[in-house]
Amino acid sequence: MTRIFVTASGTEIGKTFVTCAFIHQLRSTGRRVAALKPVASGFDNAAIEETDTGALLTALGHPLDSNRIDAISPWRFTEPLSPDMAAARENRTIPFSALVEVCTTDREADITLIEGIGGVMVPLDDTHTVLDWIEAVDAPVLLVTGGYLGSLSHTLTALGMLRSRDREVAGIIVDESVEQPVSLDETAAAIRRFSDQVPVFTLPRVSSYTNAPDLLPLLANYL
Ligand SMILES: Nc1ncnc2c1ncn2[C@@H]1O[C@H](COP(=O)(O)OP(=O)(O)O)[C@@H](O)[C@H]1O
Ligand SMILES: [Mg+2]
Repeated sequence: MTRIFVTASGTEIGKTFVTCAFIHQLRSTGRRVAALKPVASGFDNAAIEETDTGALLTALGHPLDSNRIDAISPWRFTEPLSPDMAAARENRTIPFSALVEVCTTDREADITLIEGIGGVMVPLDDTHTVLDWIEAVDAPVLLVTGGYLGSLSHTLTALGMLRSRDREVAGIIVDESVEQPVSLDETAAAIRRFSDQVPVFTLPRVSSYTNAPDLLPLLANYL
């Protein structure tokens, strides 16, 4: 079974939106899809439908019931902070080996999409970052970035860190930001000049992830 890890240059960039678009497109082509958002901060039990967990479950066509929520998001924290700090506020920690195990367990699916949290170098606890998590899961990575001012450096820094651990980057998706100083294509072209062979796709702002352009070519080698 294929696993893909969805990470980003930072938070609020488009990981969940892109993951939902992939879920929709994969399901539309008859693939059995599983998705995980194992660590979620800023989780509001009173508004599940607004959480990443709720968005993924809806895209998967599942009800937002507590068993499903526990299964796809075992570690949920109330404070909208980095996971290490959000957990500490609740006198909890994220058990790294259990986190990796949840992500590497075989599921009845052709592909499992794992949404990370924040960017590549967010701490999960006192000794592990998201990059350590990516390395331990050993899945190809989709890197979601934006068109905002500053994104080029954030994107290439994230890419450099992934490469420093020999991670396979399946693709970069430049997701249109609310404020962009240049066009999406200009940002994508600049990233391409520095990202070697990695495919770089663009995703304009659309009314729903169901209207996103075809992103499946990015997964062609993995399906
Ligand atoms: N291409 C897009 N078109 C329209 N809205 C988008 C697009 N990409 C992201 N968004 C919206 O931007 C916000 C942040 O995206 P999200 O996927 O939640 O980021 P992340 O998961 O990286 O924190 C969400 O409200 C999301 O619906
Ligand atoms: Mg998200």
